Amino acid sequence: MEWDSDSDLSTEEDEIYMLDDAGPLPFPVSNLLQAAPCGIVVTDALELDHPIIYVNTVFEKVTGYRAEDVLGRNCRFLQCRGPFAKRRHTLVDSAIVSEIRRCLEKGIEFQGELLNFRKDGSPLMNRLRLTPIYGDDETITHIIGIQFFAEANIDLGPVPGSTIKESSKSSDQFLSSPLASLRPLPTGDRNVSRGFCGILQLSDEVLSLKILSRLTPRDIASVGSVCRQLYELTRNEDLWRMVCQNAWGSETTSVLETVPAARRLGWGRLARELTTLEAAAWRKLTVGGAVEPSRCNFSACAVGNRVVLFGGEGVNMQPMNDTFVLDLNSSNPEWQHVQVSSPPPGRWGHTLSCVNGSHLVVFGGCGTQGLLNDVFVLDLDEKPPTWREISGLAPPLPRSWHSSCTLDGTKLIVSGGCADSGVLLSDTFLLDLSMEKPVWREIPVAWTPPSRLGHTLTVYGGRKILMFGGLAKSGPLRFRSSDVFTMDLSEEEPCWRCVTGSGMPGSGNPGGIAPPPRLDHVAVSLPGGRILIFGGSVAGLHSASQLYTLDPTDERPTWRILNVPGHPPRFAWGHSTCVVGGTRAIVLGGQTGEEWMLSELHELSLASSVI
Ligand SMILES: Cc1cc2nc3c(=O)[nH]c(=O)nc-3n(C[C@H](O)[C@H](O)[C@H](O)COP(=O)(O)O)c2cc1C
Repeated sequence: MEWDSDSDLSTEEDEIYMLDDAGPLPFPVSNLLQAAPCGIVVTDALELDHPIIYVNTVFEKVTGYRAEDVLGRNCRFLQCRGPFAKRRHTLVDSAIVSEIRRCLEKGIEFQGELLNFRKDGSPLMNRLRLTPIYGDDETITHIIGIQFFAEANIDLGPVPGSTIKESSKSSDQFLSSPLASLRPLPTGDRNVSRGFCGILQLSDEVLSLKILSRLTPRDIASVGSVCRQLYELTRNEDLWRMVCQNAWGSETTSVLETVPAARRLGWGRLARELTTLEAAAWRKLTVGGAVEPSRCNFSACAVGNRVVLFGGEGVNMQPMNDTFVLDLNSSNPEWQHVQVSSPPPGRWGHTLSCVNGSHLVVFGGCGTQGLLNDVFVLDLDEKPPTWREISGLAPPLPRSWHSSCTLDGTKLIVSGGCADSGVLLSDTFLLDLSMEKPVWREIPVAWTPPSRLGHTLTVYGGRKILMFGGLAKSGPLRFRSSDVFTMDLSEEEPCWRCVTGSGMPGSGNPGGIAPPPRLDHVAVSLPGGRILIFGGSVAGLHSASQLYTLDPTDERPTWRILNVPGHPPRFAWGHSTCVVGGTRAIVLGGQTGEEWMLSELHELSLASSVI
């Protein structure tokens, strides 16, 4: 569903029992009002054939089946006319049943209407919605079925030997009596509504902890439209915090917690804005101080709300080894040259990453003596900050223009780059910096993407990495690439998979507009797994300031252009970007073609009022 801005949960006060806010209700409200309150069935998706583990009293009363009759069974018995029928009734639409089967097999939501029968054999129309619920490891653990029952005006004649009249009478009474409860109820009168709505048979705790917190932010917005109790639950900040934590991981939520402005926004609003990116905007950032002497090919990275810049190429190709910090928490942020003990040898074309909270790690690059493969770590909070060399055993080949990212907050991943005499590399190495004596480990893979430099590596979905673009080898030639490859490092035998790209056999660019092939761009990982690509060197373009997003977790990942108001950087090549506090991407530097810019700083704020 699209996140509908009309269904802003933070402002609406609705006086009626079923919300009628033109939001994306699963079914038209008018139909709900004509029908009974909904039945709810929960099945165990980890067991064979989806046995029922819960039915609410509406289900029991409308169908005439008691919980103990149906627990442990598959719901298809409702398609049979009475408890003694052995086959699905011929009037039950088999195309709809196949569609349910298909949706359950694919793990996707189902909505549709089909004929069902009460225990006494009388027909019922069932507008059914099935929603999969995910567990911690992204497997579907349960399916929730919401059933909107209505009378079916079909005369099927009596069920042989049944007492249909008697029992259907009680069901009819049930179907008609709750209509009285659909009149407006005073806001907050939860006890009154609790008496009528079948969904209220689940306690708030069960609904919040076991069900709602497992849904995605988009689904929560949808579920909130179903009835008053869910609507009120979906306004609860603690629930939204759990939803954000489940959807984005606890690392991202802890970072967001440290940003005062993000806290002010609230989890519900933040979840919405970071999901839809509706509030994203560019702005120019004026900061004090200076990074002197001026340079290019430096590396920058964020430590909490501080941006750290290390090294780079000074005048006359002088490799630099100084460290600068810009504290964006301060009211007047300014670049500060940090006095550090034992700095690493000067370099450019290296990577700078953040590990273990406040530690920075420098790897590789090009120094006065040529290419490097050393590792230096600095604890920014140490007084005075001191660079320490890590003598990781079995290091990768010396290289520059490789790419790096941090996994689990503690492991440095390095991939590709340019080795001696211009040879391009395609290997991937991991260095676990939580170990006392870190050891480099090459990730063994049967197949690697073509070797490349100037590409990006980003982490998404906890332990998956995504490689995009770069200058890639293609036979004897080298081309800019727009290929996307992913690798799941939680797998026992991780392997590279081609997600999309122009140059790969068997793959085409997906629907949507792919970013033109490029190198030296930046990639930002957004909460929820999406990747944002910005800038870089693109053939024929001096400045590629268009933003592109891709969700690699989609069934068919599709590139989308993200149009963002405000003032983007004029130069988006030779720049460096880091995400500060989870909601702001800071862009530093950039090249005009002739000149390097370091005076201009830009910010892409991903959520509103986080200034
Ligand atoms: C949570 C859940 C609730 C369901 N509720 C109904 C229902 O109310 N009525 C119905 O006819 N089928 C319902 N089904 C679908 C059937 O259980 C079954 O999946 C469907 O008939 C397709 O499978 P089959 O072809 O093996 O019968 C439900 C399924 C699940 C998982």
